[in-house]
Amino acid sequence: MRLTLNVDHIATLRNARGEEQPDPVTTALIAEEVGVDGVVVHLREDRRHINERDVRLLRELIKTKLDLEMAANEEIIKIACDVGPELATLVPEKRQELTTEGGLNVIDNVSLIKNTITELHNSDIEVSLFIEPELTQIDSAAEIDADIIEIHTGIFANAVSEEEQLDELERIRAAVIHAKKLGLGVNAGHGLNYQNIKIFREVPDIDEVSIGHSIIARAVIVGIKEAVQEMIRLIK
Ligand code: PXP
Repeated sequence: MRLTLNVDHIATLRNARGEEQPDPVTTALIAEEVGVDGVVVHLREDRRHINERDVRLLRELIKTKLDLEMAANEEIIKIACDVGPELATLVPEKRQELTTEGGLNVIDNVSLIKNTITELHNSDIEVSLFIEPELTQIDSAAEIDADIIEIHTGIFANAVSEEEQLDELERIRAAVIHAKKLGLGVNAGHGLNYQNIKIFREVPDIDEVSIGHSIIARAVIVGIKEAVQEMIRLIK
C-alpha cells in the first residue's frame, strides 16, 4: 500500500497570517525525502488553502507524483490540463463544507463526469473518482472510463462503535474486490489516522492511501518541543 500526503492544511496555516510560512511545497519535498509516494493538493474554487502557484511549483519540484484533487469545474479543469498532474482526483465540492463531506454521485452526474474524464485523458492525466464503497457507483465509474476509484473512508473513520466500523470495513472490502474485477485501480482516504490505519491496512488490494489531517496534526505535536527549545536558545 503506497502513501500519498495531502498538504492542504499546511497552506491553511500559512494563509491564516497571509504570509509565506509554513510552505506546502517545502513540506512536500521533505515528505518525499523520507519516502512518501506522492503529494496531494485540493485546488478549491474558493482557494481557501492551496493556490495555483503552489500547484505549479509542486509540479515543477516534486519527483514522486502529483495528485490534484478537484471539482469537475471548467476553470479548474483548464488549470489541471495546463499543469499536467499525473493524477486528477474528482471530488464533490461545496463552498460551506469544512472538508470534503462524501463521495461523488457518479450515477446522477454521469455526463458531466464523463466529459471531464475525457478532457483530462486528452491531456494524458489519469483520473480517479472519489466515491462511496457502493457497487453501483463503481460500475458507473468503470463504464465512463475512470482509471482509479478512491474509496471514501469517512464513514469507517467516524464510526462510533466497533460493530459499525467492522460493517463499513466489510463494505469497503467488497468494493475493492468489485473494482479490481472491473480493472480499476483502488485508492482510499479521508479520516485515516494513526489508530484506525492498523485495522484498515488489513484490507487487501488497496493500491494507495491518501492522508492529510492526521499526519499534519501529528507533525505539529511531535515538532513543538524542538521548536520551543530552539527559540529559548535564541532568547537566552
Ligand atoms: N482523499 C480525499 C478525496 C479528500 O478530499 C481528503 C481530504 O482533503 C483526503 C483524502 C484526506 O483526508 P484527511 O485529511 O482526513 O486525511
